[in-house]
Amino acid sequence: PFMGELLGMRQLEESIRQAFGLKQVIVVPGNSDVSAAVKQELGQAACKALNSAMGKEDVVAVTGGSTLAAMADQLTSSSPLKGIWFVPARGGLGESLEHQANTIASTMAKRLGAQYRLLHVPDLLSEEAYQSLKQEPNIQDILQVIRQARIVVHGIGDALVMAKRRSVDDATVQQLVQAGALAEAFGYYFDRDGRVVHTMLTLGLRLEDISRTEVVIAVAGGKSKGEAITAVLRSGHEDILVIDEAAAEEVVNQC
Ligand code: BG6
Repeated sequence: PFMGELLGMRQLEESIRQAFGLKQVIVVPGNSDVSAAVKQELGQAACKALNSAMGKEDVVAVTGGSTLAAMADQLTSSSPLKGIWFVPARGGLGESLEHQANTIASTMAKRLGAQYRLLHVPDLLSEEAYQSLKQEPNIQDILQVIRQARIVVHGIGDALVMAKRRSVDDATVQQLVQAGALAEAFGYYFDRDGRVVHTMLTLGLRLEDISRTEVVIAVAGGKSKGEAITAVLRSGHEDILVIDEAAAEEVVNQC
């Protein structure tokens, strides 16, 4: 049965890789919706993917979320990676402290003996605040570093779950529903076809920056995220996908 299971994982990986033209897909057994251990496995697999993507000198931008937090806690390196900079991909996105991108960037950097810089801006910026923060020299400085990232590691969420977690107002939730938003990643909401239907007003990496990024690694699992993951894959920005079996089966069913 064990060999059969492994073979099943390899088949899922290959089907998804080919369907979306990805460089690499890693599937771990199980369903992280119902098992914390599977989420840990997902994190560990993501660590491996990141370790092999990093060079001697790199800027790595990371998002927040519980999946990335599970990954951060397991990163290790045999020698300090002094030439690597970790930065948050976007400003505060209304997450609890341990799941914020800033926290995850600093945890990863400390665990690897790498460097980090943080972006201290609140979530849910008003247009006015956004425009004036953008002019701040300090913020322009760190934004420039973020936009140079060669590697991006991000989570994927269900659109409405994420909107709720970020206490998005009712009118915006209605708009998201009407626009058919299924997925959320790095502050962007995507519909079934991977089209952006809503953008959060935060500072940081923009979709056009991500298109230019050399290595984009998505880490997400759980049967409940199957549709969201498919939507983000259709947007066509990913290079490497780290996923669990339950989500992978959902993705394959939607191909
Ligand atoms: C957020 C990321 O912090 O985490 C999102 O900015 C992602 O891109 C979300 O959708 C996923 O969270 P979790 O807890 O399900 O891993």
